Amino acid sequence: MPKANFPAAFPVTRRNVLAAGAVSATAASVGGASVARAQAGPATPPPETLAVAMTINGERRSMEIDTRTTLLDALREHLHLTGTKKGCDHGQCGACTVMVGGRRINSCMTLAVMHEDDSIITIEGLGTPEQPHPLQAAFVKHDGFQCGYCTPGQICSAVAMLAEIKAGVPSHVTDDLLVTPRASETELRERMSGNICRCAAYPNIIAAIAQVAGASA
Ligand code: FES
Ligand code: FES
Repeated sequence: MPKANFPAAFPVTRRNVLAAGAVSATAASVGGASVARAQAGPATPPPETLAVAMTINGERRSMEIDTRTTLLDALREHLHLTGTKKGCDHGQCGACTVMVGGRRINSCMTLAVMHEDDSIITIEGLGTPEQPHPLQAAFVKHDGFQCGYCTPGQICSAVAMLAEIKAGVPSHVTDDLLVTPRASETELRERMSGNICRCAAYPNIIAAIAQVAGASA
């Protein structure tokens, strides 16, 4: 076999072979980085923001927020109203329930910028430790919670739910659509089924709501 003819200035030693390998690897990675930069295109633009104002618990509040912010995150992160809880962040647990224009909604499922000029009530707007809302007092009396994480959502939901019954709104279990539904246990359980309690305090929650429903019937 003929011998390779290396120039005298580049003798084939182990040191020279390793040095040549390192140089070519560096050149490849520098070249790769510039290709990646070229393929990535321009830098990501900053998020769109919008000014939004709404009335929360009777107080006018204004924010400049990322248009992708949910109402839940706006309440908790921007306005520091942390009574409203984040459970699933997917519309499945009811922990984030607030009232918008008197109707209960999952605040994790709606964007804050959709609520310009809306009137929103959170758990902080229902009562105070000195003057609790009747439902808050009933939850304490009937031990309607254990860890308490679901409780703000349960109470906001129950307040709006009792108003729905009073207004004659039927539910999936209402037998007679021609009369105002009664706040029976079956009705209460069905209407509160969107509010999950991981501690399973359901019997006590229903007892608390039934007490207030009875008092306001
Ligand atoms: S956090 Fe909104 S429904 Fe669970
Ligand atoms: S009291 Fe713990 S989740 Fe309901």
